Order: sequence, then structure tokens, then C-alpha cells
Amino acid sequence: MSPARNEQAEARVGVEVWWVGVGEARDEFARDLDEVERGRLAAYLRDVDKARFLLGVTLVRRVLAQRFSLPAARVVLDRTCPECAKPHGKVRAAGVELSVTHSGELVGVAVADRPVGLDVEKVDPGMDVDAVARVALTDAEMRELSGYDGIAKARAFTTYWTRKEAVVKATGEGLRGDLRATVPEGVQVQDLDVGVDHRAALAVISNATPVVQVHDGTWLLG
Ligand SMILES: CC(C)(COP(=O)(O)OP(=O)(O)OC[C@H]1O[C@@H](n2cnc3c(N)ncnc32)[C@H](O)[C@@H]1OP(=O)(O)O)[C@@H](O)C(=O)NCCC(=O)NCCS
Ligand SMILES: [Zn+2]
Repeated sequence: MSPARNEQAEARVGVEVWWVGVGEARDEFARDLDEVERGRLAAYLRDVDKARFLLGVTLVRRVLAQRFSLPAARVVLDRTCPECAKPHGKVRAAGVELSVTHSGELVGVAVADRPVGLDVEKVDPGMDVDAVARVALTDAEMRELSGYDGIAKARAFTTYWTRKEAVVKATGEGLRGDLRATVPEGVQVQDLDVGVDHRAALAVISNATPVVQVHDGTWLLG
């Protein structure tokens, strides 16, 4: 492929992001889950964790059902962890790249044609920002953070944190990735606006800035 055509292809990197609220979970969604997912769902102790997991699965299944014109229950998903083979890894499906995230009131899914990482975190106003920041932030981020106080500081820290998690989720490394590292070359990271209580970020393995379409997933749940 010529460099010019390559650039054109890079220019069309598209990502869909779908959000729903944790309160939108319904027991009937569990009908579309596979055996592995039913096992995972049953193992969560708290209702809110069940709801988050169920909504993540349901969003993935319904977005792919629409894309591939299949019933949601027929979408084949693989959650095998490359480390230990248990079904708690990054969710995968043939022909598409996915990322799932849940925190606080929000559940989100990103769908793309190249590796993608989506992360949302609820801002915790009571967190000990300085303690966590020391192990997670670069010196430049630490300096920026020192300009904030109180809830603004917690928000700023959470913004950095979601960017880092989005990157390690895109690469598939997870939290064992080096959080203090700067964003590697060939990874595009952007913040997504999800309101004041949460921070969210999206990372895509690409040399071009992706075109991101954000959707309210509520109608998919209807
Ligand atoms: C992936 C990870 C960064 C997500 O952290 P989090 O902010 O607490 O949770 P989020 O809700 O944003 O993300 C959870 C989703 O990430 C996905 N995920 C799991 N492992 C992943 C990985 N290595 N890379 C990318 N995504 C991953 C899953 O789809 C999961 O959702 P689901 O199981 O409900 O479908 C973190 O859980 C992690 O690092 N896990 C791997 C830890 C590890 O070393 N595992 C090996 C154990 S043998
Ligand atoms: Zn594992």
C-alpha cells in the first residue's frame, strides 16, 4: 500500500462507545448469557456488581447482534485470560475489537476495528490522592496535580488514572502495565465527557486520531 493510501486508511479509524446507567439492568437480560457468563454473574455477591456485569455483557451482545444481524444469544464471546485460562480476561469476538468498563453508575462498551481500551471511574471525593498518585503518576502529572485541591484534585487524579487504564486495557496488559509510563507511540488517548461524578477515557492503538461516536445504549436495552 502506498504511504498516501495508508494515511487515508488510518484517517478512518472509527470507534463506537455505548453507555448505560447501572439502574437499567433487568433480570431478563440474563437469558442471552452463555454458560461462562451465567457462572460469572452468579458469583458476584453484591446486586450492584451483578448489575454492572450483566449490563456489560448485554451491551456487548446487543451491539454485536445489531452489527452482525444475529440474535444476541448467538454472539460468540471469549473471555479466556491469556495468563491462567480462567474466563476473566478481556472480552473478545471474531472480526471486532472490544472493551468493557464499569464503575459507579456507569457501564460502557467500546467497539472498533483495532485494539481499544475504555475506562470509566467514579470520582471518590474521600480518596487519599497523594498516596495513590505517588505510585501511579509521572513527574509531570504530579506537578500538574499539585495545582488542584479537594474534589478538583480527586477529579484530576481520576482523569489521569482512566487514561492510563484505557491504555493498558487497549494493549491488553491490564494493571500490570507500567502506569507511571507516558503514553506509548501509536496509541491515541482521549478523555470522554461523562458528567461531573465520573471520569472516562478511550485509548485506541492507531497512528491517527479516531473518529469517536458516543451513543446512549438505553434504546438497545428496550
Ligand atoms: C483490566 C483492568 C485494568 C480493569 O480494571 P477496572 O477498572 O477495575 O475494571 P473495568 O470495569 O474498567 O474493566 C473490567 C473489564 O475489563 C476487561 N478486561 C479484563 N482483563 C483485561 C485486560 N487484561 N485487558 C483489557 N481488558 C480487560 C473485562 O472485559 C472486564 O469486564 P467484564 O469481565 O465484566 O466483561 C484490571 O482489572 C486488570 O488489570 N485486570 C487484570 C489483572 C491481572 O493481572 N489478571 C491476570 C489474572 S491471572
Ligand atoms: Zn487470569
